[in-house]
Amino acid sequence: MSLDWQQLNQEVTALLKEARQRVLEKMQAPLTVDEKTGRKDLVTNVDKGNEQFLITGIRRIDPEAKVLGEEGFGDHLTDVKGRVWIVDPIDGTMNFVKQQDNFAIMIGIYQDGVGQLGYVYDVMNDALYHGGPQLDGVWANQELIAAPANLALRDGLIGASGPLVIHDVAHMQAIIHASAGMRIYGSAGIEMINVMRGKTLGYISHLKPWDFAAGQVLLNTLGVRVSTIDGQPLNMLSSNLVLVATEKAQRDILQIEEDDVSL
Ligand code: IPD
Ligand code: CA
Ligand code: CA
Ligand code: CA
Repeated sequence: MSLDWQQLNQEVTALLKEARQRVLEKMQAPLTVDEKTGRKDLVTNVDKGNEQFLITGIRRIDPEAKVLGEEGFGDHLTDVKGRVWIVDPIDGTMNFVKQQDNFAIMIGIYQDGVGQLGYVYDVMNDALYHGGPQLDGVWANQELIAAPANLALRDGLIGASGPLVIHDVAHMQAIIHASAGMRIYGSAGIEMINVMRGKTLGYISHLKPWDFAAGQVLLNTLGVRVSTIDGQPLNMLSSNLVLVATEKAQRDILQIEEDDVSL
């Protein structure tokens, strides 16, 4: 029997709304904050609790699927065959801890490695970006959103992650110099919302599958390119240096990469 994607979308939306309410309630009490790999890589009781809550809901909605979650409560994946749900329970944990703002809950649903539906929930603005090929578009809550303008690099702002800029990885400083300016928001999900909304024309960061799975589905549906920094498809099971960009800006950035290699 084929899957009813509309029905599934309604169930995921309800699950995410409940998850948001629970996160807002948990934020009323002091957080338990632990370091993962160091003082800039944090995890809280809310990241863990929300991942467990989401995965329990996903198993109820789609019992046969595999689930990959950042905090390790899902399955151990060795391939992306079949239906795979990829979960980031709190994207932008540092913002969550320090700002109580600018973080997202994200779910991407893939079938044999191909994006079907994506959900990026800007919690504090109560803005749920959702859609993909199975819904024929991208919505911000009830509003169908239009594809962003196909700006060239010189004509728009670009999002980046701080460490890439500081260490000038992958010609970051040349890319920023060639753009209209750089912005840093500290959450891959919020960065990708900004690209969807045309506030920035792209975003460059080292990302894991749970950081880009949901956004990739939405951005591709809006005609925005999501690739590695050298224009290749992303590996869904490992870390990637991710380039999100309008078609024109992607071309401009790939040219900067190529020019430098030939020096
Ligand atoms: C992080 C954020 C951050 C990005 C990091 C991610 P997390 O996700 O999206 O903006 O620069 O690479 O790991 O750990 O807060 O879910
Ligand atoms: Ca994390
Ligand atoms: Ca993340
Ligand atoms: Ca996270």
